[in-house]
Amino acid sequence: METPFRQVTRNFSSGMKSIIALTTLTTLMLPLSADPERGEALYAQVCFLCHGNQLEGGKGPALTDAYWRHGSSEEEILKVLNDGVKGTEMIGYGAVFPENDIQSLLSFLLSEQKGVRELVREEYEKVHFEGQELTAELFAGREASNAKPIPENTFWVDDRFGGAISYHGKFYAWEDAQYIFDLKSPGRTVVYLNGELITKAGEGYPMADQFKKGLALKKGVYELEILHESKPKHGHRITGGYGIKGKPLIQFHGRSLQGSSPKFVLTDPLRAIVARKAIQGISPRALLCLLPNKVIVAFSPETGLIEKAWQAASIDQTPSLPDRSFSPSVVLGTEIQNPPAAPDLGDNRKFLGYRLDRQNVIIRFAENGQERALTISPQGSDSYTISQ
Ligand code: HEC
Repeated sequence: METPFRQVTRNFSSGMKSIIALTTLTTLMLPLSADPERGEALYAQVCFLCHGNQLEGGKGPALTDAYWRHGSSEEEILKVLNDGVKGTEMIGYGAVFPENDIQSLLSFLLSEQKGVRELVREEYEKVHFEGQELTAELFAGREASNAKPIPENTFWVDDRFGGAISYHGKFYAWEDAQYIFDLKSPGRTVVYLNGELITKAGEGYPMADQFKKGLALKKGVYELEILHESKPKHGHRITGGYGIKGKPLIQFHGRSLQGSSPKFVLTDPLRAIVARKAIQGISPRALLCLLPNKVIVAFSPETGLIEKAWQAASIDQTPSLPDRSFSPSVVLGTEIQNPPAAPDLGDNRKFLGYRLDRQNVIIRFAENGQERALTISPQGSDSYTISQ
C-alpha cells in the first residue's frame, strides 16, 4: 500500500484536534521503537489519576476521543508530554521521565486509539456530482459549502439534504487483522483507505461484496475517506460498520467509541467501576465509586473522607467536545443524607491506588510503611458499607 494519496491539510479552530498533512503510509505507522507496554505501566502509575483508567478522561481530557486540544500529530502530543500545558494541572513530564519513557507513553497513547477518529464532514452541492462516478478527484476540485468536525464514528446525513458529502478522518487499525467495511446507504457511497478504493455501496454499486473476505490491515493509522451522494429525504445515516472479521462490528450509527458517550453507567451489573470526573462541589481527585446497586460514593483519597453519596445514580458526562475539560460532569440521582463515614486511617496515610474486586472498590493506602485498604461495598438496593 505505497500508493501516494491526496494530502489532507485542513485546520479547524484551535480547540479541535487538527488534521495533519499525511504523505505516505510509512509516516503514519506507529513508532515501533518505543515500548507501548512500558508506556502503559507509566500511564497506570501517573496519568490515570487525571485521564482515567481507560483513558476516558476525568480531571484531564479523554485521550481516546476525537478531539485533541493541542494537536494529534506525534510532534504535538510529544510537546504536551514534554512541556505540559501552562496554567493547567498537566505538567511537563520531560522533566520527570527520560526521553525513551516519553516516547513509550506516546506509543501507548497511539496504540489505544481505535477506529474512526478526527472525522470532518464536508457538504457539496449536488449539481457537480449527479450521474458522475464518485471519485476523490471529483471531490478534490470542488469547494465545500460547509465543513465541520463531527464526533467520531458518526456518519450522518441531514434530513432532506440532497447533495454530496465527503468524510475525512483517520482510521486506527488497533491490531493486525482482517477488517471489514460493511456499508449500506441510500444513495451511493465510496470508501478509500490511504487513497485506495475499498468499497462501493448503494444504488448502482455492488454492495461491498469484496469485503466478505475482509481486508488485511497492519496495526497503524490510515487516512479514511468516505464519499457519499445522498438523495433528498433519505434516512439520516449511513448504516453498517467496520471491524475485525468474526467479531461484532463497530456500527456507523453515530455512537462514539469512548469518552463522549453521554452517560457513565455500569456496563456489568455485577461489577463496580470507578470514575474520576470534574463534578461541581466534589474535590477534583475524589474517586467516584459506582457500585452495582447504582449507589455512587465520592471518596477523597486525599482527606480520607466520603464527600457525598447518591442512590439510583449515574454520571452525566461532559460531552467529548473541545471545551470539555472546563465544564464539569453531573451526578444524577438522589443524594444519600448522612452517608456512612470512612474509618479513620490516621494522618500518615499515603494513597497508593485502587483496584476493583467484582462488586467492591478497594482503596489502598500506605501507613507507616504498612499497607492498609478500605473496601467500599454495595449494601441492599440503596446504600453501601465502607470498612477496613
Ligand atoms: C494532575 C492531573 C494530570 C496528570 C497526572 C496528567 N495529566 Fe495530562 N492533562 C491534564 C489536564 C488538565 C490536561 C488539559 C490541559 C488543557 O487545559 O489543555 C491534560 C492534557 C493532556 C494531553 C493533551 C490532550 C489533548 O487533548 O491535546 C495529553 C496528551 C496528556 N495530558 C497526557 C498525559 C500523560 C501521558 C500523563 C502521564 C505521564 C498525564 N497526562 C498526566 C491533567 C493531567
